[in-house]
Amino acid sequence: MLLSRQKTSNQPLQLLGGLTTEQFFNEYWQKKPLLIRNAIDDFESLISPDELAGLSLEDQVQSRIIIEKDADKPWKVLYSPLEESVFSEMPEKDWTLLVSDVEKHIPEFTKITDQFRFIPDWRIDDLMISYAPEGGSVGAHIDQYDVFLLQAHGQRRWQIGSKPVDNEAYIEDLDIRVLKEFFHDHEWTLNPGDLLYLPPRIAHHGVALNDCLTYSIGFRANSHNELVTSFTDHLLNNNKNEKRYNAIDFQQHPAEITADTIQQLKSILLSNLQTDSAHIEEWFGEFITEQKFELDTVPEQVFTDSNEVFEYLSSIELINRHPAIRFAFIKHGEISDLFINAKKYKTQTEFAELLCGKREISISTLIANTKDETEKSVILDCINSGYLYNEH
Ligand code: SIN
Ligand code: CO
Repeated sequence: MLLSRQKTSNQPLQLLGGLTTEQFFNEYWQKKPLLIRNAIDDFESLISPDELAGLSLEDQVQSRIIIEKDADKPWKVLYSPLEESVFSEMPEKDWTLLVSDVEKHIPEFTKITDQFRFIPDWRIDDLMISYAPEGGSVGAHIDQYDVFLLQAHGQRRWQIGSKPVDNEAYIEDLDIRVLKEFFHDHEWTLNPGDLLYLPPRIAHHGVALNDCLTYSIGFRANSHNELVTSFTDHLLNNNKNEKRYNAIDFQQHPAEITADTIQQLKSILLSNLQTDSAHIEEWFGEFITEQKFELDTVPEQVFTDSNEVFEYLSSIELINRHPAIRFAFIKHGEISDLFINAKKYKTQTEFAELLCGKREISISTLIANTKDETEKSVILDCINSGYLYNEH
């Protein structure tokens, strides 16, 4: 299996069918689908259908079952929390179990998502895994984000329309969005290790040919509305500006809102938007590293100060980053803004790069790169919150 991280932009990657990441970005990313046969040699799923079913029942795990037929309505969805008994009630065929954010619950799955680190960490949303017996499918649909579909076990037949859909209509009154009309111009059967990249809005329909596990590596595509709302919320929360509207408005009719008033409002809005880079950086770093959903990260021990933490560190060899916690940094030369779960720290760039780099960090390297009190406090905060932990 090929599971080590690959980085340079001009080296052909087996994962991309021999394309370099540069070629992939220029020709395919956000543009057109790409099927890669044997993207990972001898691929074996890291989880069995039974283990996936077990995971889907756990607290804090978001899962769904979609039953195409044989329920009280077509395409019926059962949402988590699911009861174990649900599986004994499933029909023989034509249903799908979907479990989201698997890599945040089982750290081993970051080996899969880390294969895609040629795309920035902050754009990776999650690894979703589906299990389906023969005939299982979620219907013909489109997604609003880029996705890599990695066949992990059994076979799935994919049909896709290679041009983005711009005027979709859905079958009415269903729990899920199934396209009313689906035209496809490609059909492929994927075997374990095959990978299908789909840009946003490409109609696709995948049907399990036999017991089948498919891993979907999905990417974040925040809507502009979401970005603007979050940015303005951030400004409001950090803005001590208590100025009030105080212009004098002259108008002929008492009910008129004049062009001068609109002009005045425009200048208030623009002067308050504060779109200088420092504001955008602070907001975005916090926004993008916020946990996707509240997942408890339980610390092994809680320390009162960094001396205690360093004493503890000297007794272990490796420390792991919690897979549900997002780490990112913005570089300003030798100093960086380091963001960990929506909290900002100012640290040496080398320290930020180390902490955001590997998922498993050697203690000796960590200690050698921890130079000042802020960096020590980052480690203290992270260990006390369970964001860094020793896997043993
Ligand atoms: C599936 O795994 O069945 C569905 C994945 C998708 O279409 O996005
Ligand atoms: Co899809």
